Amino acid sequence: MTRTVYVNGEYLPETEAKVSIFDRGFLMADGVYEVTSVLGGKLIDFGGHAARLERSLTELDMGCPVTMDELLAIHRELVKLNDIDEGMIYLQITRGAPGDRDFVFPDPETTKPTIVLFTQNKPGMANTPAAKVGLKVISIEDIRWGRRDIKTVQLLYPSMGKMMAKKAGADDAWLVEDGSVTEGTSNNAYIVKGGKIITRNLTKDILHGITRAAVLRFAREAQMEVEERPFTIEEAQAADEAFVTSASAFVMPVVEIDGAKIGTGTPGPVAVRLREIYLEESLKTAI
Ligand code: PDD
Repeated sequence: MTRTVYVNGEYLPETEAKVSIFDRGFLMADGVYEVTSVLGGKLIDFGGHAARLERSLTELDMGCPVTMDELLAIHRELVKLNDIDEGMIYLQITRGAPGDRDFVFPDPETTKPTIVLFTQNKPGMANTPAAKVGLKVISIEDIRWGRRDIKTVQLLYPSMGKMMAKKAGADDAWLVEDGSVTEGTSNNAYIVKGGKIITRNLTKDILHGITRAAVLRFAREAQMEVEERPFTIEEAQAADEAFVTSASAFVMPVVEIDGAKIGTGTPGPVAVRLREIYLEESLKTAI
């Protein structure tokens, strides 16, 4: 089945969808994105993703070509047209295509933002065997820019980080700045020590994960202790457990950091339980 995508107001087969070569997303990574997961044909935490999108756009002084109600309708239509039961919806909005290359932002009256959405079908995503094995991560220096709280499409360094991990025989990388872990290349990072869940506090240094917010809420509701503060790789290696969260991985255990086994070297009980709770609870509010 040819995938149907959405581009600037039109639903089209992916082979017919086009964006200008002058698009600022293409030339300057001048764009923002969101990834929303779909489970049982429904959107997980759409409200959270829509709110973060509005914030990213505001921070970059970029307009939104659709209302949030229209955005929800587009997401739902793509799920229907592509018959997605489990998978993801990728959304990208850029500052548009002014018709030439110029560092200065174009006049928003004449250059409208570009909006693109497409689906990624991932049957069995919630039940992935990876969650039973856990991830091996390496640590690398965090050399990204200073506004990681804005979900921009500048993903070259995270891609390089994943490649460094792959070359080292690992699954992913944790980014380290001034001695402490900021986050994973495409997820938020956590450790568990003595039953307490520790994850970096929210600043401009990390993306404010939508999954993070939900998981911490569920953890607190389940009377688990949560501490939001930076931690080092050494502290993580000595922890009982480690895990990451993201819209595409949900809660994913981490079993090895820079070659050192975490706890028993298998997914820990807190991570496993949080994954169960997250999948169960987020489905209740899926739309
Ligand atoms: N990545 N930190 C970074 C750097 C991320 O790229 C992501 C998400 C997260 C987790 O955020 P959320 O829980 O809202 O998905 C944290 C998405 C999934 C991606 O790039 O594919």
